[in-house]
Amino acid sequence: MCGIIGAASSRSVGKILIKGLQLMEYRGYDSAGVVLNKEEEILRLRSLGKVSKLEDLMISKKPRALSGIAHTRWATHGAPSEENAHPHGSHDDIFIVHNGIIENHEEIRDFLRKESYEVTSETDSELIAHLIHFYNKDTKDTLKALMRATKDLKGAYSIAAVSQKEKGKVYAARQKSPLLVGIGIEENFIASDPLAIVNITEKFHMLEDGDFSVITKDDAVIFDNTGAKVDRDELKIEATATATTKGDYKHFMEKEIYEQPECIGNTINGRLGENDVLDNVFGLGSSDAFREVKRIHFVACGTSLHAAKTARKWFEDICEIPCYIDFASEYRYRNPIVENNTLFVTISQSGETADTLAALNYAKEEKYIGIVSICNVPTSTMARESDWKVFTNAGPEIGVASTKAFTTQLAALLILALSIAKSQEKNPEKRKQAAQDLRETPALIEKAFKLKDEINSITNNISSNDNALFLGRGMYFSIAQEGALKLKEISYIHAEAYPAGELKHGPLALVDETIPVIALAPEDSLVEKLLSNLEEVKARGGTLYVFGNSSSTIEIKKGKFINMPECGDFNAPIVYTIPLQILAYEVACLRGTDLDQPRNLAKSVTVE
Ligand code: G6P
Repeated sequence: MCGIIGAASSRSVGKILIKGLQLMEYRGYDSAGVVLNKEEEILRLRSLGKVSKLEDLMISKKPRALSGIAHTRWATHGAPSEENAHPHGSHDDIFIVHNGIIENHEEIRDFLRKESYEVTSETDSELIAHLIHFYNKDTKDTLKALMRATKDLKGAYSIAAVSQKEKGKVYAARQKSPLLVGIGIEENFIASDPLAIVNITEKFHMLEDGDFSVITKDDAVIFDNTGAKVDRDELKIEATATATTKGDYKHFMEKEIYEQPECIGNTINGRLGENDVLDNVFGLGSSDAFREVKRIHFVACGTSLHAAKTARKWFEDICEIPCYIDFASEYRYRNPIVENNTLFVTISQSGETADTLAALNYAKEEKYIGIVSICNVPTSTMARESDWKVFTNAGPEIGVASTKAFTTQLAALLILALSIAKSQEKNPEKRKQAAQDLRETPALIEKAFKLKDEINSITNNISSNDNALFLGRGMYFSIAQEGALKLKEISYIHAEAYPAGELKHGPLALVDETIPVIALAPEDSLVEKLLSNLEEVKARGGTLYVFGNSSSTIEIKKGKFINMPECGDFNAPIVYTIPLQILAYEVACLRGTDLDQPRNLAKSVTVE
């Protein structure tokens, strides 16, 4: 989704800004733009499509400017176009870039029209530039004008702004949309994503809601919402060179799939003892607090929601407590009934998903016994806003289609189930087994990678269809949902997942000789039932691709049986995810899609 970078430096900033945009490309965007506050004039360049187009445009102009702001836009208000791309300006003086949504944009538009401002784009963002310009007429001070303008804005925003009259200065404001200040040597930065500047600085200050900042090459000052100067904690974020490059892989998604054994190792390291989880892995006091948990409410979006759905059975089996699961975008609108002793759990790769954060804020006002977050980004808003948390330690995930984030979330959720069960002294044998299974997971994933050739033998049949049906039972229905999501996200094949027992209640009507039916048949208590459901597909001449093991005895005339490694009860769902990721990846390669940045999608969805 949208990305912001701003820089004030003793060197020319054009390349820094373009590089920053490129490092944020993974978030998903449709247009890009930059404003360079050159000595003699202010130069704005915008283009539809890739940042490389903007880069070519910039190179042709050879600008030299010591400050500027830049943006990648993911359309919300107004179609993707050059006119709607940021930066937006007012009177060739104030230029801004904006992430988020201004909810009262109609009202502000009317006000500005009455004040004779000409609005040239369809965006809500342009209005911010005009508002700052309007108030600057009185204040004659850009920071004060920005502060005054934000008082009129309802909604979420992070803003970076420059004034043509003030070379070498960049202004910033944050409200419910991430923004940070980066500290360099003779240069300072503003960015919505640390990855944009992590190659040039490791020192950051995360702005809080209501904060403003002014940076020059020598200084970075932060103000709170009263206008008082404040210090925000310094964070160190180190990016290894390999974290933001593809290495020898064709795509980030491919790299991230094959990183999973190491990532799961990083999720569990330091959190498991010999036979059990360690105490307080979710933070000081968490083990005591978990003693009181009688039910859990999970809230998340997309792949992270699938992780909750998969993990539910662990909480029911190991902790013997019921779980409720909600789409974050639905949760707060249905006035959820919160019973005593309910724990609220959010799951998010980015920790910045707007719907999940809004749900978390809603939950804070309810009588939950506490808020736990499972998150991949330690500096995220979600991490800061939670009572207890565990980081998945998967490293930056760049591919829009989530892979390593999902499997590490599953590992972290199992650790949460173990922590609660341990606090409540429940099921020590199961806990021991689960801890052992977790430790064996990386090696089993390595074995699953060896199935790549077999998977490639079926990808042609899948890529030549526009539909696919995924089946599973129990936890494997949720894994099937995640497999279908991967396939549709990156190959644009319409893929649906069903619990296999539901087949006869509707989706069986889709089954003919062409549609590929992909089924997960691990050795569990439901395998016999699943195999009967698959017979229903066979009887209709359907093509079956079954991932199972020796106990899944099914003769397949059309399709293929792929033999999975023998897994433990607690790691099988994680391991069965792997071939579905590889399948989606290889099919998308055959279809030639832009699979790290699939059309219309964003990595971090910071609008509701
Ligand atoms: C977007 C991404 C998905 C992700 C979802 C939730 O839709 O494309 O891959 O699962 O957001 O993101 P989160 O960061 O909260 O896990």
